[in-house]
Formats: sequence, structure tokens, C-alpha cells
Amino acid sequence: MHDPAALRSLHVTRFQAEPAVFVAPGRVNLIGEHTDYAEGFVMPAAIDFATLAGISPRSDGKIVIYSENYGEEKTFEAALLPAKAGKHWSDYPIGVVAILTGEGNKFPGFSLSLWGDVPLGSGLSSSAALEVVTALAVTSLIGVSYPGPVLARLCQRVENEFVGANCGIMDQFISANGKKDHALLLDCRDLSFKLAPIPANVALVIANTMVKHSIAGGDYPTRRRESEAACAVINSHRGNVPFLRDATLEDLEKWGHEMAPKSLMRARHVISENLRTVACEKALEKGDLKEVGRLMTEAHWSYSKDFEGSCAEADAMVELAQDLPGLIGARLTGGGFGGCTINLVEQSQAKAFAEELGKRYAAKFNIEPQIHVCHASDGAHRIS
Ligand code: GLA
Repeated sequence: MHDPAALRSLHVTRFQAEPAVFVAPGRVNLIGEHTDYAEGFVMPAAIDFATLAGISPRSDGKIVIYSENYGEEKTFEAALLPAKAGKHWSDYPIGVVAILTGEGNKFPGFSLSLWGDVPLGSGLSSSAALEVVTALAVTSLIGVSYPGPVLARLCQRVENEFVGANCGIMDQFISANGKKDHALLLDCRDLSFKLAPIPANVALVIANTMVKHSIAGGDYPTRRRESEAACAVINSHRGNVPFLRDATLEDLEKWGHEMAPKSLMRARHVISENLRTVACEKALEKGDLKEVGRLMTEAHWSYSKDFEGSCAEADAMVELAQDLPGLIGARLTGGGFGGCTINLVEQSQAKAFAEELGKRYAAKFNIEPQIHVCHASDGAHRIS
């Protein structure tokens, strides 16, 4: 559990100062994978796993960051911030300070305690939660406030420019702007969004394959390059297609033969996924859960077969769920190559579903999966 009172007491003991406390959630994406950097649509929800930050000023010009998760403290000079990442957990919080400093903000010394329960490296955006909670804490320390979407962009820049991960806007956006009991249909082109209510009788069951996922690894940027190469081919013919968001399946029929086979497959996933994501929000709005489930299944296999972004364990986690009572839809969520599946399940069946899925998966792979029944939560905010 992320417990604000425990974080406060930890901060007071370590730094002898009363902290202001903030929280930022992890996320699960219901549908719309690898569409954000193509300026397309995604439909994530913030979840009740989150990272807490406690912050208090210091007078010695030092930035001291303590992570309870890593049991480690790291010190920086506020006047001499690192210019690049050091392949360390502190890259995320200090990267936030560096990017915000580049925006003209000036930070005095401060003590920052961090503690979260978003499973690390599981595709539930633990790093976005860490960035967003830090951004909120440090800006509030200097009396600056950015609107949620702007804060999200700044945190995305931490990944892109400081950490060196070429991710899109989805994770930071939902961590900063999530809404309790809702998913967000986000248009990654202009960051406008529509709230998509998650019916009260539907649970978000998140099943961790325990296969570690990393978006800084090679596969994510490779997939991204392959899909962008397909986009360039279409753009060379008809122009006005700067992103796959602007492309259609007909474009692929016409010019797919000019693309490398893998590029064509990646683009087919991205273009069809955009259509599914918009359709899924409509189905949710109408209460057509059957259609929601159908779209999720289609999305999973598109992600797995055309995008080749899944793995045997995630495919099995989806397959093993199919005939369990209460399932509405299941698919791999997040950056891919491991991580978690999201299962929409009738609330009354959620507990039994989670238990049985866990048993089936453990029997197949001899790995005990973590399965959580989650709820859509509010985005980042101050607690005290
Ligand atoms: C990761 C990235 C996101 C998005 C997803 C795939 O979570 O951080 O920007 O691209 O993968 O949908």
C-alpha cells in the first residue's frame, strides 16, 4: 500500500522536517497501444497503485532524494544539475528538476522522499508516476503550477530528452489527469480528451505475467521506427500524412507493397488500433460491453501478430482468461514484450476470476503471477 502517513513519518525521521505530500498514480491502458507517438488515440485509466512524494526545503543548496523502494539516498547540488542520465532510479526525479530548470524555474535545495507501490518494470508506468509526482512536488515547492496537460508534456520530455526513452505522451498524461471511475479517450494530437465512464459493475483486473518489460530496450524504438517508415511511404505519395494517425487502411492496400513487410505489419496494427480505440469508447458509452470485449480481443491479437509486441506468457494470460466466468475482454496493456494484461471483468466475478487465472497461469509456466483487482483513480494531486 502507498500510505501517506507512513511516508510523512519516514520523511520526518530522515530529514527532521515536515513534508508536503503528493501522489501520482500508475496506469493501465484499456485499448490504443503504440498509437500515442503516431498522434492517435489511447484510452488509459489511472489505477490505485501510486507513488508518493514528500518534500521539504533545505538551506544548504543540496537536493537530497531518498527512495524507500530502493532503500537509497542520492545527493545533488541544486546549482549543478547533471546534464544527462546515469542509468539510476534517480534519473527520473532529477531529470524532472533538470527539465523544469531548463524551462526557467529556479530550485533551491530540498529533501524529497519517494515511496510507491506501482510494480516496477511491469508496464504500469511506475516511471511516469515517479516523474509526475516529482514534478508536482518540486513545482509546488517554488509556488509554480502547470496545468495537467502541460505537466504531462514536461514529464514526457524527461523520458525523451533526459532518460533517453522514446515514449509517447500517454503514461504521463493519464498519471497527471486521470479521473476516478473513468478511462480517458485521449487524442494524442491536441491532448483533448473525453471521459469514458467505467461501469460500476466492471472491475479492472490486472494480471502481471512477471516478464519484465523495458521501453528503453531495443524493441520499442525498433517498432516505432518500423511504423514511422511505413508512414513515410504513404506520405511520399499523397502528402499530409505526417503521422500514421492520418493514414488509412486503404493507403496500405495501395502502397503497402512498397514497404518492408515488417513496416506494413506495424502500420496495419497502428491504423486499425486507432479505429478500435475510438470504437471502444463509443461502445463503452452505449454500455455495449460485448463490443468492448470483441475490440479488446482484436486489439490483443493485432498487437501480438502484426506489431509483434507480445510474448508467449502474455498471449497465454489472455487465452487462459477467455472461458472464465465474468470476462468482458482481455489484452496485453502498455509498452509490450512482457508486463501485464488488462481484463475487464464483471465485478461480482472479479475475485474468483483473479484466483482461477492465477492458478491456470502458475500451472502452465510455473511462475506465480501477481493479479490485482484495481479501480480507476484520480490523477496526481496534493494530499497534505
Ligand atoms: C509505453 C510508452 C507509451 C506508449 C505505450 C504503448 O507505455 O511509454 O508512450 O507508447 O508504451 O502504447
